[in-house]
Amino acid sequence: MTNKWGGRTSERGQGLVLGLLLGGTGQTKKPGRDGPTDNLLDITAYIEQAQQAERGKIHTIFLADALVTSETAPKPGLEPVTLLSALAALTSRIGLIGSISTSFTEPYNLARQVLSLDHISGGRAGWNLVTSSAGEKNFGKPLPAHDDRYAVAEEFAGVVQALWESWERDAVTYDDSGRQRVDAKKVHRIDWSSQHFSVRGPLNVSRSPQDKPILAQAGSSNEGRQLGARIADVIFTTGLTETEPSIELYKDFKQRASAFGRSPDSIKILPGVAPVIGSTDEEAHRFWRDVIDDIDFEEGRKSLASQFGGVDFEGIDLDDEIPLQDLPQTADVQGRRSRFGVFRNLVETGKVRTVRDLIIYHSSGAGHWFPIGSVENIADQLQDRYERGATDGFNFLAFTLKYELGLTAVTDHLIPELQRRGIFHHDYQHETLRQNLGV
Ligand SMILES: Cc1cc2nc3c(=O)[nH]c(=O)nc-3n(C[C@H](O)[C@H](O)[C@H](O)COP(=O)(O)O)c2cc1C
Repeated sequence: MTNKWGGRTSERGQGLVLGLLLGGTGQTKKPGRDGPTDNLLDITAYIEQAQQAERGKIHTIFLADALVTSETAPKPGLEPVTLLSALAALTSRIGLIGSISTSFTEPYNLARQVLSLDHISGGRAGWNLVTSSAGEKNFGKPLPAHDDRYAVAEEFAGVVQALWESWERDAVTYDDSGRQRVDAKKVHRIDWSSQHFSVRGPLNVSRSPQDKPILAQAGSSNEGRQLGARIADVIFTTGLTETEPSIELYKDFKQRASAFGRSPDSIKILPGVAPVIGSTDEEAHRFWRDVIDDIDFEEGRKSLASQFGGVDFEGIDLDDEIPLQDLPQTADVQGRRSRFGVFRNLVETGKVRTVRDLIIYHSSGAGHWFPIGSVENIADQLQDRYERGATDGFNFLAFTLKYELGLTAVTDHLIPELQRRGIFHHDYQHETLRQNLGV
């Protein structure tokens, strides 16, 4: 039997949803080594990646963000909505999702920025809600504790959603000569008042071409899961190395969504994946070894600290065992709780033993799953996870796609293989991101 894309019918209806996290390589490389650009100001590189992803029919690009730069290793970068606006003008079908913090911005500003991007792109914008785990010193107020950040985020998202709905769908019409008419009776105040926010509305941008911009969420702690399950269209998770826990995480999000009265299909779970792809398994392993040879372990040690809830690895020899007893309990971490949990679990289960192992692991996938193998082998592994109910799709991590062909291995080799298998679309079916995601 064939499906609507001409491939073998998969057990699962819609096919994979694929995203691509844009960025530089993120690798802590030895100085003087060539490789993909690390220049996060290089608009040409972003344009090329976005257009290549669009040629590969990837549903959406995604830009991460932080409101702080390291003092010991400062790195310049671009603000996501500004960058996505430029990319909107140079692409036509791919989604444009950017991270914005609920801890250090105002809902009215955010609602306006993202909805403007949505109009500029013809209905392709999305907001990845993050609560931030750093940056407070730039805003003159303390970083709220983990669970408090989510309480604010929940109210914040409520305000944004209400503002996005403050214009009825037909509030703006055009007559035959193209003259715009706005029906003021269809533009409403929201009169929002809650513990943290007081917002009158209406927004000064009209209704979205896709009804509302896409809302993504990227935290997997208990609080993150509750919020995501209640309101998000897309969940970005840390791709786990093992399949069974991935299935559990997937089921948990879907069950929580059902408990909020939502259809499980209306929320797409997209774990991060950083595949190392070769023409053969042997070649893929060779690429991976080359990358390990290039790691600057002292730089890597520094970048680990940010993921480890303040645990300082400075005094520990690279080949010493990681002292599990010195690591905090996951539930006590105030920063990126679920990502820390992924790393702690690797140490607990003995998959990662030494500081060197941990840096290799971190450099390979930034904590996300990094399968290594031929195109067919990687396609088998992605298909297996999809068909076993571990995921609705994947979010490829461009900054780790530094292996030989990099993004081209995904767009020109892996994706055609997934299409041949009938588990990925051959073209965008709709104009807007919301329709293309099926949410
Ligand atoms: C794929 C992915 C992308 C993320 N992108 C960002 C980001 O751009 N900015 C940010 O501050 N946090 C980002 N995060 C972190 C989460 O939003 C969240 O703050 C963190 O995981 C802590 O949430 P938790 O405690 O619920 O796990 C990302 C997480 C994942 C898995």
